[in-house]
Amino acid sequence: MGVSDWKKSVVYQIYPKSFNDTTGNGHGDINGIIDKLDYLKTLGVDYLWLTPVYCSPMNDNGYDISDYYEINPDFGTKEDFRRLLNEAHACGIKIMSDIVINHTSTEHRWFVESRQSKDNPYRDYYIWKDGDNGNPPTNWESKFGGNAWQKDEVTGQYYLRLFDVTQADLNWENSKLRQEIYDMINYWIDFGMDGFRFDVINLISKAEYKNSEAIGKEFYTDGPRVHEFLHELNRNTFGDKEGFMTVGEMSSTTLEHCIKYTNPERRELSSVFNFHHLKVDYKDGEKWSEQPFDFVELKQILFKWQLGIQAGGGWNAIFWCNHDQPRVVSRFGDDSTEENRVLSAKMLAIALHLLQGTPYIYQGEEIGMTNLYFDNIKQYRDVESLNAYSIMKERGISDDQAMRILQHKSRDNSRSPVQWDDSEHAGFTTGTPWIETAKNYKTVNVKQALADKNSIFYTYQHLIRLRHNFEIITYGKVLPLLENHPELFAYERRLDDDTLIIVANFSAQEVTVPDDIALEGTVLINNYESYSRTLKPYQAVAVKK
Ligand code: GLC
Repeated sequence: MGVSDWKKSVVYQIYPKSFNDTTGNGHGDINGIIDKLDYLKTLGVDYLWLTPVYCSPMNDNGYDISDYYEINPDFGTKEDFRRLLNEAHACGIKIMSDIVINHTSTEHRWFVESRQSKDNPYRDYYIWKDGDNGNPPTNWESKFGGNAWQKDEVTGQYYLRLFDVTQADLNWENSKLRQEIYDMINYWIDFGMDGFRFDVINLISKAEYKNSEAIGKEFYTDGPRVHEFLHELNRNTFGDKEGFMTVGEMSSTTLEHCIKYTNPERRELSSVFNFHHLKVDYKDGEKWSEQPFDFVELKQILFKWQLGIQAGGGWNAIFWCNHDQPRVVSRFGDDSTEENRVLSAKMLAIALHLLQGTPYIYQGEEIGMTNLYFDNIKQYRDVESLNAYSIMKERGISDDQAMRILQHKSRDNSRSPVQWDDSEHAGFTTGTPWIETAKNYKTVNVKQALADKNSIFYTYQHLIRLRHNFEIITYGKVLPLLENHPELFAYERRLDDDTLIIVANFSAQEVTVPDDIALEGTVLINNYESYSRTLKPYQAVAVKK
């Protein structure tokens, strides 16, 4: 059963399109989630976060909403959604839905009106500007490639779109628009939601529309009114609901802002995702590059955020994976052999889940799903990946290299169907899946994981139980250890007289733990049968003193 204290909870992220298809149309659906609630209950998670299931043309798989109040028929009906809520609640599982309010689809009624004329009542719901002598208003770049302004022929002005051309940025300066958003959020609260994940929420306040030295980020990231807007959002919607959990997705943010977003005294959000630790394999900040990950930097960033948020009285979301990231076992672990896949997936789980913050498990992570290694561009579906491929080709990068980069960086790596069993299409659909299943589904699947008491699944189950049972995992102070060690990730947690020591070997070799780390105590979790001061390849151990 779920825990009552939200800080002790663990969230499982569902990407409904790829979770479980009950109709045979090749797309997952809400009923498919209901069918797997027993599985999620066995895992022990407290919340499910569903990526958007509202009406959408699906150019960005639901992050382009055309009607906030309706469910996309591809996913089911509002009645299905109500049943999901009821049945999840009966299992002790809460539901968080995804709220995308930095932008809407250009098919949203507001935008359809807005583009009609300069004096349309909805004109000011979006950000329209004149061009600059035949050029776009500024040189800002879209996060999906290309200039961030799109010229609209009807009035000859440009609208801002920080993502796809069909995702128009909303104008949060407009109080009428803000009120419409709060009304919509209150509708879903009344419907029975237990929490929200707010998409790219730190981009809602734009400062000035000027040419940038870089790509424009400095004018809209953690902008001048963002805290005021989030406080207003909180006060007008979920703010007084006891235990209601919110998490904001923060793009290229800073620690100082995240403390402000989550310190309860400020009444903004409960927790934040930041992505700095997932850029340690970007070359000079460029995602579409080939670069092994920097392990010491990974630790430094994670610890900086652990200590900083702790000192500032805020709260982190902790995660390796989501629908925008490659699979962690292929990224920071080792999927080169079956043995190493299992060991390193467990090690990564242990290393992360005993940190402070709310852990997120992304569908399939709990069975160690890997990257896809597609070798043909036609296998890709994601708009960002397809744009990146064209841009790489334009820049003269060879096809081989561009394909290798996509194999490691594409968001599609996490969007392939969940591998339920070893039947065709991994038991995801009886039809043709919208994106191919990873080739390894015969060995990597839920059925196998549930049958094997030593599987990765049971490591996750165990970690969730530990969090529910030991206050120290939620509330203990974090103390980093061996910060510059090239292979070991180690930290201590302290609460009153209790101490926990966590040591994880990120390498495929045996590594001896330095003498100043005391490893004696009760073992809480270990991904091998036993341990000594010399850790085995990918061994991770947590002991309590
Ligand atoms: C967030 C979502 C991502 C989406 C983008 C635009 O980063 O997680 O999937 O493409 O926002 O809405």
